[in-house]
Amino acid sequence: MSWVSVGHVRDLTPGEGRTFVVDGHQIAVFLLPDGSVRATTAVCPHRGGPLADGQIDSDVVVCPLHQYAFAFESGLCTTGEVEPVPIYAARLQDEAIHIRV
Ligand code: FES
Repeated sequence: MSWVSVGHVRDLTPGEGRTFVVDGHQIAVFLLPDGSVRATTAVCPHRGGPLADGQIDSDVVVCPLHQYAFAFESGLCTTGEVEPVPIYAARLQDEAIHIRV
């Protein structure tokens, strides 16, 4: 695995997500209100909903299709019997978004 720069933090809106394609992976990147970034697979493991369009707080993203919530730290679904969402390590370095893929 290696860190890949996917864009500048100004490409993100605080409290929202955006999908990037990295090495063929669709990855949803979220800018949290505290200024940190989190990343998950962009496709919901339930029925393929667009996780980047989901509502977030500091701990979870809620899929817009059926409102299941997934924890940023573990990927586990916190609201139902849905398989975990794959998560990616994400960081900001000199305002560049880096994802480990
Ligand atoms: S597709 Fe995401 S909760 Fe159903």
